[in-house]
Amino acid sequence: MAKSAQTSLVDTFGRVHTDLRISVTDRCNFRCAYCMPEEGMEWLDRSGILSYEEIVRVASILVNEAGVKSIRLTGGEPTVRARLPILVERLAALDVELSMTTNGATLALIANDLKSAGLQRLNISIDTLHADRFHELTKRNELPRVLEGITAAVAAGFDPVKLNVVPMRGINDDEVLDFLRFGQDNGVIVRFIEFMPLDAQGQWSNDRVVTQKEILETAATEFDFEPITRGSSPAERFRFTDGSGEFGVIASVTEPFCEACDRMRLTADGQLRNCLFALGHTDLRPLLRSDASDADIVNAVQAEVEKKWAGHAINQVHFIRPTKSMSQLGG
Ligand code: 5AD
Ligand code: SF4
Repeated sequence: MAKSAQTSLVDTFGRVHTDLRISVTDRCNFRCAYCMPEEGMEWLDRSGILSYEEIVRVASILVNEAGVKSIRLTGGEPTVRARLPILVERLAALDVELSMTTNGATLALIANDLKSAGLQRLNISIDTLHADRFHELTKRNELPRVLEGITAAVAAGFDPVKLNVVPMRGINDDEVLDFLRFGQDNGVIVRFIEFMPLDAQGQWSNDRVVTQKEILETAATEFDFEPITRGSSPAERFRFTDGSGEFGVIASVTEPFCEACDRMRLTADGQLRNCLFALGHTDLRPLLRSDASDADIVNAVQAEVEKKWAGHAINQVHFIRPTKSMSQLGG
């Protein structure tokens, strides 16, 4: 079927929004200290979570009529939602690049199913390679499972597999070189993400942020590397000069990529958010559960995109910390 005339989701700064992050659940099987409390997390009521039909409807409308080109599934932990490969299969049928961010703990079991369902790329979050630290950080003894998950993802044919590593001062900042070696040895791309003020528990402080500059200085003590021309990705990319792969740094705090941001987020309960740090949102769920037309939904999304600020201003005095954590917003 020929595509109908497209709207573009353009904000008031001229940024065109082509990337949609869909959180499929706020739940998680880990309790990363920077993301959620160990106990007492209040989960969304199941009836409030968008069904797969509702998610597919929003995705189809935005891909077919509003220029969305890439979709990333996130959580919480997306793989804790039942029958995830079914959702993947339905989204993969759209003309869109489809990826997912996961903590990797269940990948050994479902990497092949996700691949055959049409998932194209995988990012796996892992902040330490030490079992004791892993428990401290996630409150779970799942490091072996995550390592198996990484192996399974590579074996299933995901290429590239990327690892998201958040270095935090005094916690895991001594593992930068170990992670770079791990990336080379396992044929995966390690990406260090600067620690952002998004945690529910007040773990963040400016001096805990390990900056891109520091990461590169540490990397240079052992490796020769050179920058790769930056594409649309927020990661600054580097290639090892001996041909043993690449790594990246996402300087979300010290060099925010807000001016090139093309992202919107849909939370598990159907809130459209124009930024991780946005203080407001548009609730799409009432539209999806009424007789609103596809055009009504595009208009609601466009209106939310138009409210997007220039940037998150983490480093400025008027920055307001969001009251929601990454698990509620979708990574
Ligand atoms: N700062 C930076 N990255 C974070 N993530 C979760 N919380 C934060 C934070 N405060 C990362 C996770 C995962 C991705 C979804 O977001 O490590 O890789
Ligand atoms: Fe779960 Fe990811 Fe949050 Fe850790 S960071 S608790 S793995 S959603």
